[in-house]
Amino acid sequence: MSVHIAAGPGDIAEAVLLPGDPLRAKFIAENFLENPKQYNEVRNMFGYTGTYRGKKISVQGTGMGIPSISIYVNELFRDYGVKRAIRVGTAGSIQEKIQVRDLVLAMSACTDSGTNAVRFGGRNFAPTADFGLLKTAYETAAARGWNPRTGPVVSSDMFYTETPDEWRLWARFGCLCVEMECAELYTLAAKYGREALCILTISDNLVNHEITTAEERQNTFTRMMEVALDTAVS
Ligand code: HPA
Repeated sequence: MSVHIAAGPGDIAEAVLLPGDPLRAKFIAENFLENPKQYNEVRNMFGYTGTYRGKKISVQGTGMGIPSISIYVNELFRDYGVKRAIRVGTAGSIQEKIQVRDLVLAMSACTDSGTNAVRFGGRNFAPTADFGLLKTAYETAAARGWNPRTGPVVSSDMFYTETPDEWRLWARFGCLCVEMECAELYTLAAKYGREALCILTISDNLVNHEITTAEERQNTFTRMMEVALDTAVS
């Protein structure tokens, strides 16, 4: 039992998938896990544990944004001994060559969040993926012909920014897409000495304003889930 997760000791697996949307956690549990059991419904932030390819695995919603994911990941690492955390989410492309439906593996995460500025007293920490997970996810997706894109992403604190084309600065420095959680996940993994990876599907493109349909999002989401699950149990 932690402050925001009502699970008992041993209820959560060492490997956890982290979708932002709790209903996606439910979807993953119901469609990909064997014998899923719900361990959390506090604040409707659903969490489930089941098995995948014979291995125990959990899936926990995190909510949107760095403050929300920070609460759940702190508790998973600190109170439940989670060793491997894989975020599965959506992102907006900021590069012409990264198109909607593309799969992105975040090598590192830049951020405009104040979180690490406060945490490190104005010094800059470089939130980075676990190389082993990144390599496995890359090979898994490439073997299936899903052309994974790898590179730095941006974890933004604001979906609705004051300057609409703020993303152009990050794009000039080679960032691939914008999302809202990765930098905190990677920072906490470093703090606790755990493994983390962020796998993203491009849902919209800020360069050419292309968007995906609900059906496309569902199909590409399924691909992302397969990569995440195979990586989680590797
Ligand atoms: N900005 C931030 N987060 C996102 C976006 C975006 O454009 N698309 C999906 N997640």
